[in-house]
Amino acid sequence: MGCFCWFSSNEKNVDRRRNGARRTAQQPAYPPRNDHIHIAPQPKNRKPRPPPESNDNKDARDHKEAASGSGHVMAAQTFTFRELAMATKNFRRECLIGEGGFGRVYKGKLDKSGQVVAVKQLDRNGLQGNREFLVEVLMLSLLHHQNLVNLVGYCADGDQRLLVYEYMPMGSLEDHLLDLTPERKPLEWFSRMKIALGAAKGLEYLHDKANPPVIYRDMKSSNILLDRFFNAKLSDFGLAKLGPVGDKLHVSSRVMGTYGYCAPEYQRTGQLTVKSDVYSFGVVFLELITGRRAIDTTRRNNEQNLVSWAQPVFKEPSRYPELADPLLQGGLSCERLESSGCGCSHVSPGGAIGSSIDL
Ligand SMILES: Nc1ncnc2c1ncn2[C@@H]1O[C@H](COP(=O)(O)OP(=O)(O)OP(=O)(O)O)[C@@H](O)[C@H]1O
Ligand SMILES: [Mg+2]
Repeated sequence: MGCFCWFSSNEKNVDRRRNGARRTAQQPAYPPRNDHIHIAPQPKNRKPRPPPESNDNKDARDHKEAASGSGHVMAAQTFTFRELAMATKNFRRECLIGEGGFGRVYKGKLDKSGQVVAVKQLDRNGLQGNREFLVEVLMLSLLHHQNLVNLVGYCADGDQRLLVYEYMPMGSLEDHLLDLTPERKPLEWFSRMKIALGAAKGLEYLHDKANPPVIYRDMKSSNILLDRFFNAKLSDFGLAKLGPVGDKLHVSSRVMGTYGYCAPEYQRTGQLTVKSDVYSFGVVFLELITGRRAIDTTRRNNEQNLVSWAQPVFKEPSRYPELADPLLQGGLSCERLESSGCGCSHVSPGGAIGSSIDL
């Protein structure tokens, strides 16, 4: 697992809307292999069934073995393209709720159950390939927790690849923190810390409760989805990877993730541990405190990288107020910043999630 090189050796595989953080991978040192995974066409009489299999995909095999070991496979439903077209009024513009580097997300209503869902249609010519699609379906079929988004099902009709998730009515943390529209109220301190706590619990489940542990590799504000009460759920598991087991301290992998969130030691060495996720969590935590993006190319040079900008301030508690998001408008005391400083100090390499998130 881990050689997803051809999906993202090119920096164009990125977010079209934002100026900042973007998904990437190291340039491959060798030409891409033709590793396409075949997903069998779906039968007409659709029944819930386990996620798709692949004979030549080690990632999928590893995840499946983990699944049979755990006995917690929950069948994802399969959908035809027609069903999802109906659910989203033929992918009408008014149903569009978001767009990432790999495709568009629509709000829809399933005809049979009446369930409201989010349907992600992967770009057919895009860089998210079958392998990431498979990993996402398998991971979310195996992993179930209140702080992970629920996968309702998927569609692999012909060359169409769609993922159907529970609908999260408040969208992503990014929408509320970094892409704030004038009619949206800025997030209060309490909500920010509640979101951080939910995301941390999602990670804790992946790292400490899932067996074998799962490294998420895509912790960022656009992947933290919110319900009406600001309960947070992690989404997008296409980059997730099984963590080290036994005596091993890390797994080696081609560097994947998003600029600005990726742990420097992983970026340097390709050695992946659960701590790489903890680093990314620290970056999200810093975004919550400052209201600034991990990478923001619209700012002055020395402020474009959030971690580099904030790091000198960590060493001087008296300067903590400089970090506070101006939109908190005094709703953030020095004591709160000092205690939350534990959270973002983990943006130093090799941290662990702190236990003290101050509500
Ligand atoms: N289950 C969902 N419920 C509600 N909105 C969603 C759901 N999934 C995604 N969205 C919305 O769609 C947007 C795009 O999500 P998507 O995962 O495609 O891209 P991204 O995370 O922004 O970027 P990237 O492609 O780099 O991961 C999200 O930011 C969110 O606003
Ligand atoms: Mg996402």
